[in-house]
Amino acid sequence: QSKLEQMTLDVGQKVEPTQCTQCGMVYNHAVPDDEQNHNKYHKRFLKASSFSGWKTERVVEEYHDGRIILVNQHDPKSHVKKMEEVREVVDIDLGITDRNQNPVPGKELQAFLYISNANKVIAAAFVEHIEKGYPCVSAHEPDETGKAPLLKSDDVAMKAVCGISRLWVFKQCRRKKIASRLMDCVRANLVFGCTISKVKIAFSDPTENGRMFAQTYCGT
Ligand code: ACO
Ligand code: ZN
Repeated sequence: QSKLEQMTLDVGQKVEPTQCTQCGMVYNHAVPDDEQNHNKYHKRFLKASSFSGWKTERVVEEYHDGRIILVNQHDPKSHVKKMEEVREVVDIDLGITDRNQNPVPGKELQAFLYISNANKVIAAAFVEHIEKGYPCVSAHEPDETGKAPLLKSDDVAMKAVCGISRLWVFKQCRRKKIASRLMDCVRANLVFGCTISKVKIAFSDPTENGRMFAQTYCGT
């Protein structure tokens, strides 16, 4: 090895950013701020993504590689805490710094968490109902025959609008249709008994990735 080759190797090792295999963060060992940021994020990520399994899981779908569970604000404290931990890490990834984006009363976020077979949270969708109170199938006023004709569920389902506040998949698990599965579950489970159509989904403040995904998923 020539001296020059050795020098380039050394320099190369020092400045080349690396990706942490556990948390997925790309950072540079040589930059103290980077290293510090990574340490902080790494700890939070490991805590948020660890999942021990719950006795009362609301499993909405199961797949060969994991399951999707639904958590809402009225669930046991420890469940809500997990949901918040995940949201905080997702917020860091999405660059959401405004704490006021926390759910306002009546507009509570629900979380669809993708749990891998290794019991890790590897993806999440935080969702709100933009329009509330539309039953999936409701009755008109009774007519003169005394019968109340049922609306076709499609008519009413059109009114149900669903806002995706945050959608996130762990870096190493992207492009495997995990976000698509999450969205299928959101659409099928947000309003009891009906499936929300793809055109009634609104992504708030989408990132470039989010836009690309939405284009394909919603066909818009
Ligand atoms: N670039 C181009 N097309 C994409 C991308 C992308 N980055 N991501 C998804 N698509 C399209 C593709 O057509 C893809 O099908 P293909 O892989 O067969 O080509 C199709 O959408 C389905 O993609 P999925 O595999 O279901 O999506 P994935 O599980 O990779 O998750 C997501 C997509 C959530 C956007 C992921 O990239 C991510 O977490 N990114 C970082 C966080 C982020 O930006 N989230 C969206 C923020 S917007 C919001 O939260 C409201
Ligand atoms: Zn890490």
